[in-house]
Amino acid sequence: MKRVKAIYPGSFDPPTNGHLDLIERGSKIFDELVVAVLGNPEKQPLFSVADRRKMLEAMTADYDNVTVDTFDGLMVEYAMRVGARAVLRGIRAISDYEYELQMALMNRKLQPGLETVFMMPAEKYSYLSSRLVREIAQLGGAIDCLVPPLVAQKLREKIDVAHRFSAGEERPAPEAVATPRVKASTTKTRKRKS
Ligand code: PNS
Repeated sequence: MKRVKAIYPGSFDPPTNGHLDLIERGSKIFDELVVAVLGNPEKQPLFSVADRRKMLEAMTADYDNVTVDTFDGLMVEYAMRVGARAVLRGIRAISDYEYELQMALMNRKLQPGLETVFMMPAEKYSYLSSRLVREIAQLGGAIDCLVPPLVAQKLREKIDVAHRFSAGEERPAPEAVATPRVKASTTKTRKRKS
């Protein structure tokens, strides 16, 4: 029997409990599931593609048949490159349907051999979206029941840094943010070199 590989593409900015619910469902019906993070969305993401990938890798570590990858450009071309025969998408409410139908039909036009499979997350996640999670986090609301603990922590760190800078704190050099233990003198030297 043919093994079916599927991709679950999305922005995942940030990944939520709803995404994880769908990944779990997908992992049960597909032989292989690749969670594919879009690298170059039109809008400016809150998290870098590397951060989103790391969060998803941690969230899916217990699923043997789930991997995480990133992609740019047309989703159907990426799907063909990795040998996927299906695209998994979640539908939470009727309001998702129109957009998802349009995208699925356009993707079918572009690549007739690729099937879009829709799954519904648990009802308790039907009102959950990354956009709302970002908004609630930025306004200081409780996000712990909406995203996995690791994502909640990352969101708090991100929002905290943003608040400190908007309050007038000087923004450190990018390399000092990436490696917080770097010595100030090292940072200065690097800055002068560039
Ligand atoms: O989580 P999102 O933002 O709803 O995911 C949307 C996504 C990434 C699946 C969609 O925007 C996409 O596939 N983008 C890649 C570019 C592409 O193929 N566009 C044509 C879609 S018909």
